[in-house]
Amino acid sequence: MIKNDLFLRALKGEPVERPPVWMMRQAGRYLPEFMAIREKYDFFTRCQTPELASEITVQPIRRYGMDAAILFSDILVVPQAMNIQVEMKPGVGPWLPEPIRSQKDVDRVVVPDVTQALGYVMEAVKATKELLCDEVPLIGFAGSPWTILCYCVQGQGSKNFDKAKEFCFTQPLAAHTLLQKITDTTIAYLKEKVAAGVNAVQIFDSWGGMLSPEDYQEFSWKYIQQIIDTLTPLVPVIAFGKGCWFALEEMAKSKAAALGVDWTVSPKVARELTGHSITLQGNFDPVRLLSPPAVIKEMVTRMIDDFGKDRYIVNLGHGILPHVPTDHAKAFIDAVKDYAPA
Ligand code: CP3
Repeated sequence: MIKNDLFLRALKGEPVERPPVWMMRQAGRYLPEFMAIREKYDFFTRCQTPELASEITVQPIRRYGMDAAILFSDILVVPQAMNIQVEMKPGVGPWLPEPIRSQKDVDRVVVPDVTQALGYVMEAVKATKELLCDEVPLIGFAGSPWTILCYCVQGQGSKNFDKAKEFCFTQPLAAHTLLQKITDTTIAYLKEKVAAGVNAVQIFDSWGGMLSPEDYQEFSWKYIQQIIDTLTPLVPVIAFGKGCWFALEEMAKSKAAALGVDWTVSPKVARELTGHSITLQGNFDPVRLLSPPAVIKEMVTRMIDDFGKDRYIVNLGHGILPHVPTDHAKAFIDAVKDYAPA
C-alpha cells in the first residue's frame, strides 16, 4: 500500500483533501544535487545505471515532498532499443546521426525484446521502489509514437519538425509502419514497467501540437489510443499532449485516467471541452516559476480554484526549466500543500 495515495485517488476521480502535485522534469538541472551527479556521469550512463537513476528520481521528493515520483530516464531510450542510434550532445540535446528518411530505413528498425534491451529501466524501477519505501507512487512514462517519430526522422530537436511532417505526408505507408513499430515496442515496454512496479504511466506527446487537428488523429492520437486501451486494465494512464487543446474533446472519450494540458488553454475551457468528467493535470506556465514566490503562490491557488480541487493534479504545462531558483519551485509545491479553497 502506498502511504500518500492522493495522486492515485485523483486519477480514480475520488474526492481529496487537496489536489496532488508533481512537476514534469522534476528530476533535473534546476537541482544542485542533480548537477553534482551530472558532472560525473554522462546522460545515458545516468539512465542505464539503476543506482544513479533511482537516486536522481528521489532527489526532488526528498527536497520538496511532491505527491508522486517520476522515474529518471528519457523517452529516447525506446528508439535506442529499436536499433536507432541516439546521442545526447551537450548544448544541442538529442542527436540522431542516421535519421530515418525512407522505407528502407524503416525496415532496419526492430521491435526488440524489451526485457533484454530495456532491462536496465526495469532494474531502475525496482531500485527506485526500494528507495521510495511506498511513501509516494512512482510514475513510469514513454513518448508518444508521433513524438518519437519526430526525433527519429528530424534527427534532432526542431521548432517545427518539418522533416518529420514531410515524411508522414509524402511517405505515409512508411510512416505508419514506423509508428506501429514504435507503438508495439512502447506497449511491451510499459507493460514491463508495470510488472516492475510503476503505479501509473504517462504518455508524453510533446510535439502533438505541431499537427493539424485532422493530422493529429491520423498520425498521433490513433496510436496513443492503442497504448491507452492496452495499458488501462493494468494501470492508470495519463495522456499529455502539448499544444493539443484542439483534441481534448476526442481525448476525453478515451479510457485514459487523466489528460495533461498546457498553459495555452484556460481551466474553464479545458473542463468544458472534456465534459467535466475526466481528471485533468497541469497547467502552470513553466516560465511563470520565474515570477516572485508570492506571485507563484497566488497564481497556484487561483489555478486550483479554477480547475476545482477534485479530479485535478497540479503540475506545470511542460517541463521545469533549468534556471528556475530552487525556492521558486518550493513555492509552487508549498502553495498546493497549503491550499485552502476561496
Ligand atoms: O520528468 C522527469 O523528471 C523524469 C525524467 C525525464 C527526462 N526526460 C530527463 C531528461 C522525462 C520524463 C523526459 C521526457 C522527455 N525527453 C521528453 C518529453 C517531455 C518534454 O519535455 O517534452 C522529451 C521531448 C525528451 C527528449 C529530450 N531529452 C530533450 C528534448 C532533452 C533536453 C536536451 C537539453 O540539453 O536540454 C533531453 C535530455 C534530458 N532528459 C535531460 C533530462 C533531465 C537534460 C539533459 C541532462 O541532464 O544532461
